[in-house]
Amino acid sequence: MKVFSFCFCAALFLVLSGVFAYGAEGTTGGDGKALFEQKCNVCHSKDRATKKLKTANEWKNTVMRMKNANGAGITDSDAKIIIDYLAKNYSLR
Ligand code: HEC
Repeated sequence: MKVFSFCFCAALFLVLSGVFAYGAEGTTGGDGKALFEQKCNVCHSKDRATKKLKTANEWKNTVMRMKNANGAGITDSDAKIIIDYLAKNYSLR
């Protein structure tokens, strides 16, 4: 009985970690969307920000320009999350 419940727990753990891994990879919005809508809707509307499609590299340059030149109040880790979100959802590919 002890062995059975150990196996059950191990199996449950494997299944759950698989679900979480899948969930993290399968998101198109998540935190990135929330951050983008919160941080990039301040000086101009967020619709202005996504009017043009850009490559991942262009998004990186744009977001870093907003941060460094225009003074957007985002941290480096915010920037990375927002760049990933934009590159996934508003990319030229
Ligand atoms: C502190 C104010 C401010 C914040 C916050 C801000 N922007 Fe901007 N943004 C500007 C200004 C000013 C311009 C117009 C001048 C320019 O292009 O640099 C602009 C223009 C843009 C443009 C059009 C020009 C281009 O390169 O295509 C995009 C796209 C853009 N912003 C994206 C973003 C994104 C994404 C964020 C969130 C990370 C953001 N902005 C946050 C000030 C801001």
